[in-house]
Amino acid sequence: MIKFTVITLFPEALEPYLSCSMMWKAREKGLAEFELVNLRDFGLGPHKSVDDTPYGGGDGMLLRCEPVFAAVESVKAGSPDAKVILPTPVGEIWNQEMAKELAGTLQISVTPARHYIILCPHYEGYDERILSIVDYKVSMGKYVLTGGELPALIIIDSVVRLIPGVLGGEQSAEIESFSDGDNLEYPQYTKPYDFRGMKVPDVLLSGNHGEIAKWRAEHSGRIS
Ligand code: ADE
Repeated sequence: MIKFTVITLFPEALEPYLSCSMMWKAREKGLAEFELVNLRDFGLGPHKSVDDTPYGGGDGMLLRCEPVFAAVESVKAGSPDAKVILPTPVGEIWNQEMAKELAGTLQISVTPARHYIILCPHYEGYDERILSIVDYKVSMGKYVLTGGELPALIIIDSVVRLIPGVLGGEQSAEIESFSDGDNLEYPQYTKPYDFRGMKVPDVLLSGNHGEIAKWRAEHSGRIS
């Protein structure tokens, strides 16, 4: 069982994705649990404020420490070992090895239940002191998004699909694209054989498993 708690100002942005397809199945099978915590509930004053202007001047508003610490501490009260992930453009670039590490599939031994808290910053940034409660800073690439919600979904999706049992009867996640370092999947075809003049390579219809394996190995993409 793996659990993700997402602390966000926009829980409604995440709920639909976590309620369909594989994420829904993982939930139904009891393999994954998702919890959405509204950061606004920990906001300050009558307006439930969560951000303020930067010391030293500058544009925009920064996420304040108090609501973030209160939200994380409330989750950790019931789960002291939960690890905190912060999506940020200056984090380590997210990759398959990191997804495996979080899923626990890099370890040979039976792994205990895992609980991750994803803290979604929004607007222009966050108070640097928030980093003192963060275990992993991860970036989705060298571009800037408006918040951590899309990164949170990418992290959850790429980790949950690696949990044994989630992909069900499909080919295991192990032999799919990216699961073996930088080894990419080979091209695949289904019916019809001839679509608008584009034909399926004949070797795939040959029934010769050795030749098929060779063709697939030759046609697997590689990044490096
Ligand atoms: N927040 C804003 N941009 C981001 C990115 N590229 N990756 C992770 N978090 C972000």
